Amino acid sequence: MRTKLVAGNWKMYGNLAANQALLTRIRDAAADLKSRCAVCVPFPYLGQAQASLAGSQVAWGGQNISEHAQGAYTGEVSAEMLAEFGCRYVLVGHSERRALYGESDATVAAKFVAALRAGLTPILCVGETLAEREAGTTSEVVIRQLDAAINASGISTLSRSVLAYEPVWAIGTGKTATPQQAQDVHALLRARIAGSDSAVAQGLQILYGGSVKPGNAQELFAMVDIDGGLIGGASLVADDFLAICNA
Ligand code: 13P
Repeated sequence: MRTKLVAGNWKMYGNLAANQALLTRIRDAAADLKSRCAVCVPFPYLGQAQASLAGSQVAWGGQNISEHAQGAYTGEVSAEMLAEFGCRYVLVGHSERRALYGESDATVAAKFVAALRAGLTPILCVGETLAEREAGTTSEVVIRQLDAAINASGISTLSRSVLAYEPVWAIGTGKTATPQQAQDVHALLRARIAGSDSAVAQGLQILYGGSVKPGNAQELFAMVDIDGGLIGGASLVADDFLAICNA
């Protein structure tokens, strides 16, 4: 049995005071939660997350990294820097990075490699747009995104990674994939990996993200290949996030 993981992605929300209230609530509840949980916070709040969560059951991480270890890359942050702040996780290839900041499959793959190099667990995000789903290319798109990372780092590195399926049309829209729609893609991704290494495929946590709320988390997480969630909006509300962690 794979353990369930629920990771919050705060995106570009928060401030010191609101974060403190949220982190404290999550930390205090963590010991009794049914799943592992983590929060991916904006860079300036990594120190706050570390100070608040160190020694608790809650892990923390970033939402993006540079593909480079160091250098003249103004405004960028390396995986090694995140590791210094105790991060366990980092998101790579979130659809907002791909769509708004032009991250290609090759860039995302390089970031995936960079995270592993620094000892972080990358949460590799894949997902199709509405147009791609309607054109019947969902499988092709998510497999292409997955394969880019595998080709760059090798199949065995997935044993130190997490995969997240986030259909773009379900992110922040209130439109959740049905449990069966999500399960179908999760099963496809796992089967693809099993084709190269069945043990890695069986052990890999594949999270679902896209309008997960307390009211729909349980039916999603009940699906055999859905190992938890990547939560945007609801991760900013302590009661909602904790309810999802217990779903
Ligand atoms: P929402 O839960 O707000 O739809 O966001 C999902 C997401 O993008 C998490 O990374």
